[in-house]
Amino acid sequence: MNDLDRFRRQHEELAQKMTEIERTSLALPNALVAGKCARLLAKMSGLLQVHLVMEEAFFYARADRFDNPAVRAICKRFQGEIDMFRPSFKAFVEQYSVASAIEKNVAQFQGDLLRHFDWLRRRDGREERELYQSVETATKKRPTSSLLAV
Ligand SMILES: [Fe+2]
Repeated sequence: MNDLDRFRRQHEELAQKMTEIERTSLALPNALVAGKCARLLAKMSGLLQVHLVMEEAFFYARADRFDNPAVRAICKRFQGEIDMFRPSFKAFVEQYSVASAIEKNVAQFQGDLLRHFDWLRRRDGREERELYQSVETATKKRPTSSLLAV
């Protein structure tokens, strides 16, 4: 599996986790459900962190390897976006890291969840259509088995 296919698979996994958390949160308010939401969110956040670190290494840290300036510009734009999102998501995950925080603010939790997950779903779709596609086209003539393997 190449790096881009691995990223697409991670998106699928993240989408499944997001759906699981949203479905679970529908049974709130409930102490056990709140605990489950907190655990699932922490797990999903861990997966997202791994994914973002890998994308950072692949697309942004070494974007200058792409000869095409349009591809470099796309990388820069996507990097800027995720840099804006990351602190907000981190604060969100920290805020609801324990069941009691969710139980006390169910409506706010569900609203924050929807807002962040909606953004991530749209972002992942755009990454696949714009970012991955442009990099795939740009590297077609110079295939690399795994740029992450160092
Ligand atoms: Fe991604």
